Amino acid sequence: MPKQRVLSGMRPTGKLHLGNMVGALDNWKRLQEEYECFFFAADWHALTTEYAHTEIIQENIRDMVIDWLSVGLSPEKSVLFIQSKIKEHAELHLLLSMITPLPWLERVPSYKEQQQELANRDLSTYGFLGYPLLQTADIIIYKAHKVPVGIDQVPHVELSREIARRFNFFYGEVFPVPEPMLTEIPKLLGIDGRKMSKSYDNAIYLSDPPGEIRRKVSLMFTDPNRIRRSDPGNPDICNVFAFHKVYSSPEIVERVNVDCRRAVLGCVEDKKHLGEILVAHLAPIHERRARYLQNPHLMEEILEAGCQKARKIAAQTMVEVRAAMKI
Ligand code: TRP
Repeated sequence: MPKQRVLSGMRPTGKLHLGNMVGALDNWKRLQEEYECFFFAADWHALTTEYAHTEIIQENIRDMVIDWLSVGLSPEKSVLFIQSKIKEHAELHLLLSMITPLPWLERVPSYKEQQQELANRDLSTYGFLGYPLLQTADIIIYKAHKVPVGIDQVPHVELSREIARRFNFFYGEVFPVPEPMLTEIPKLLGIDGRKMSKSYDNAIYLSDPPGEIRRKVSLMFTDPNRIRRSDPGNPDICNVFAFHKVYSSPEIVERVNVDCRRAVLGCVEDKKHLGEILVAHLAPIHERRARYLQNPHLMEEILEAGCQKARKIAAQTMVEVRAAMKI
């Protein structure tokens, strides 16, 4: 049995944080053991909202891909590439636009939501409306079976299913109908207790040096009702405890749980402990990162080889698409 194909992309927003790691990267890393995986930097998608600030895109791609490699995405196991290097995505996007009814795009929930959320930008563009259709082209051009994404992206994968079916209906079976792949993701909040996000300035980055990690952990919000050291704490509402649940052994989690409630363990001491656990967890990642930083040509070679592999498959699909459409 040939392996099933998995594909996912990430917009290049620059260096990645722990939230990205538990959200997507850890999952991608696991998937590459079982599937034929394609992971790419969606730089054209970045343009849909960042078209006025294109000067940082190249740097953001490199900052993101070095984090991918540092956490252990492996060029031997996965095809790592850059969307804009594979022009076939654009050709398929154009052809799909011919068969895509406008209301299908207008009713994708992220369309109106994002326009409201990013009201400081003009998102009444053609490219922004077409965002999920470009994503459809990304997915089906590799005939991907499974698309690991967060819950917010599921409507986009749903659109790609509808478009794949519509294409197959008009022109014959070319595309498998892809499926979203949702994984249980532990929730990591930022150091201020809000969603961990670059734009909130509350993130712990994979590339943060140990001193910075310790400093950020020391600033983390804990149980707001625990004012004095002698007050018993409630780990259920403590962000530091939430981190323990992700990064510490079950024994440590249980001990922190008990000792915090009995006021045996103080917040300062507990944060120091968590800081050390995170520093140890990130140590092998930092080691790999240092190797890639010292040899920048390595990453360029990996991306070049990945783009070549991706291009070959995308080009083959386009031969089939043109034949099916008789153009
Ligand atoms: N829209 C996705 C996101 O913002 C990124 C993306 C682009 C993607 N193309 C894709 C994800 C194809 C999965 C498959 O996260």
